[in-house]
Amino acid sequence: MCGIVGITSNKPVSVSIINSLRKLEYRGYDSAGIATLSNGFINEVKSEGRVEKLEKNIDTKNMIGSVGIGHVRWATHGVPNKINAHPHSSESVSVVHNGIIENSTNLKKNLVSIGHKFKSQTDTEVIVHLITELLKKNDLKESILKMLNQLEGSFALAIIFKDHPDLIVGARRGSPLAVGYGPNENYLGSDSYALKSMTNKISYLDDGDFCIVKKNHVEFFDNNGIKLNKKVLKLSSNEENYGKGDYKHYMAKEIDEQPITIKNCIKEYIDNINNDINIYNFPWKINDISSVTLIGCGTAYHSCLMAKYWIEELSSLDVNIDIASEFRYRKNRFKKDNLYIFVSQSGETADTYAALDICNKNKMKTASIVNVIESSIARDSNFVLPIHCGPEVGVASTKAFIGQMLVLYILILKISYLRKEIDKNLYIKKIKALKELPELVEKTLLTESKIQSISGTFTEAKGSMFLGRGFSYSIALEGALKLKELSYVHAEGYPAGEMKHGPLALIEDGIPVVVLAPRDEYYKKTISNMQEVIARGAKVLLITNKSKEEIFSENIWEKIEVENTSNDLFPFLITIPIQKLAYYAALKKGYDIDKPRNLAKSVTVE
Ligand code: M6R
Repeated sequence: MCGIVGITSNKPVSVSIINSLRKLEYRGYDSAGIATLSNGFINEVKSEGRVEKLEKNIDTKNMIGSVGIGHVRWATHGVPNKINAHPHSSESVSVVHNGIIENSTNLKKNLVSIGHKFKSQTDTEVIVHLITELLKKNDLKESILKMLNQLEGSFALAIIFKDHPDLIVGARRGSPLAVGYGPNENYLGSDSYALKSMTNKISYLDDGDFCIVKKNHVEFFDNNGIKLNKKVLKLSSNEENYGKGDYKHYMAKEIDEQPITIKNCIKEYIDNINNDINIYNFPWKINDISSVTLIGCGTAYHSCLMAKYWIEELSSLDVNIDIASEFRYRKNRFKKDNLYIFVSQSGETADTYAALDICNKNKMKTASIVNVIESSIARDSNFVLPIHCGPEVGVASTKAFIGQMLVLYILILKISYLRKEIDKNLYIKKIKALKELPELVEKTLLTESKIQSISGTFTEAKGSMFLGRGFSYSIALEGALKLKELSYVHAEGYPAGEMKHGPLALIEDGIPVVVLAPRDEYYKKTISNMQEVIARGAKVLLITNKSKEEIFSENIWEKIEVENTSNDLFPFLITIPIQKLAYYAALKKGYDIDKPRNLAKSVTVE
C-alpha cells in the first residue's frame, strides 16, 4: 500500500529516496514518484508501474535538490496512472499522502470556486491547493494547522515548500509516520523499513501530530501547535537482510525458511531445560481473564480462527473471533475480564489498528501478536508477543501465518496450564511435541515436487475448493485465500460438513478439491465428505498424514502425506502443501508472485 519517504540533507537526495522507495516496494503499489527542491523550483518526476521505471525516467545528475519527498501509490481515488501518481505539486508546494481524505469533494468544490484548477482524480490534490491558498495569508505553521483542521479522514503527509527550501513538513492522523535521524540529514518515512537503510534512530508521530524536519533539527507539535518532546527509539538492527538469496521469489524463500523461523520463535518462548513456557511481564493476573476475543484480517484472521479451536480444546475460556473491519463498526459489549488479542504481521493494518484503538478507548485489556515490533499495533497495545520470523516481503503471508499460529498456541498452552486446565504431564508432553515441529516442517517441505506437478490442474480449472473440519478448517480457508490471491483463480474454503448445505452444487466433473484430513478426531467424518465430492466427479487432492492404516475411499486423484505429530499440531504441517500449491499455481501462470495484482502487503487504508 502507499509508502512515503522524505529526506532533508546537505547533499543531493534523489538517489537515496529511490533506494528507500525500493524498500517500500513490498507494500504493493501501482505507481511511484519523487519531487526535490533545487534552485527555487520543485522538480517532480512520476511514472506508472514500478520504482525501476521511475528511476529510468530520472536524470539524477540534474535532480540535485538536497530536500525531497518520494512515494509509492496504491490507488484509492483515481486509476493508477502517471497523473494520479504522487507527488502532487503546485508552483509552491509538493505533497505525498497515504490514506484517504474523506471530505475531498467538498474541499475541491470550494477551491475550484476560487479559481484552483485540478489535474488529477485524486483526493490528495486538494491538500496541495488548500495549503497553497493558506500560505498566501498565513505563515508556515499557521497554514499547516489550518489545513490539518480542515481535513477529514486518515492520512500521513510529507510536504515540501518552494519558499522554505530547507525543510519537510510531516503530519499524521490514522496512517503511521516516523522521523529518522542521521548525520547532517533527517528523514520521514511511512514505516521503519523505509528508514532502516539510513538510520536506526527514529521517533514516531502520534495521531494528530505534525513535525518540521530540517537537516540538523526536528520539531514536533500536537494538533494545537503546542511543541512536543519525542522519545528517540533505537531500531533492532540497522539494515536487515531482505535479499532473495538463491530464490526467484521472496514467497518461495519465506516458505522454505519456516523450519528456521519456528525454531527461532520456540527459542524465544520455551525454556528448553525445564520444558516450560516463558511469557515475561504478562500484565494481568490469570484469574482476571475469563474470556478471549481474537481479532485480525485475512490470513491473520485465519490464525485467530485456529486459536479458537485450540482454546476450546485446552481450556474452559469463552472465546470469540472477529474480522477487524466488522468489529470496529459493531456495537460491541465490552467486558473487563475479556482479553482482546490483535493479530497482525505488519502491525499497521488500518482495520486491526482501529479495532485496537476502540478497545483501548474502552480501557480493555489489549495484547498483540505481531511480526514488526516497532509497528503501531505493537506500540499501542498493553502487551506484545512478537512472532520472531524476520521480515516477510512477499505480499502473500506464509511464514508469518505459521508464526502467528505458533505464538497463539504457546500462549494458549501457558494460560491453560496456569489455569490448571491441563496438568503438568500434558503440558510438558505438548512442549516436547512443539520442539519437534521444525524438523517435521522441514520433512513436509519435501512434498514439493508432487505439488509442483499437479498445480497446473488448479490453474486450468474454473475454480476449486478446500475442505476441512476442526483443526483443519482454518487451513482450508487459508489454502483458498492463498490460491486466489496468487493465481487469480476462484477458490473457496469450506467446512467439509457444510458442503451438502449448498456448495455441493458447484461440484462437477474434474473440479479440483483439496481435502485436508489428518488422522485426528475429525478424520472419518471428513473422509465421508470427501467421498461425497468424489461421487460427483471432483478430482480430490487429499492431504493427510503418514499411516499404515488404509484409506477407505476409491478414486482419490492425488495424495500428500505429511509427517506424524499430535492432533493439535497437524495444522502447521498441512499448511506447507497448500502454500506450495498456491506458489506453483502462480508460477505456472507467470504472475508477479511477490506482488499480486491489486493487493498490498501493509493495508493502511480501510
Ligand atoms: O499485516 P496483517 O497481518 O495485519 O495483514 C492482514 C492481511 O492483510 C493479510 O494477512 C493478507 O490477507 C495477506 N495478503 C494474505 O496472504
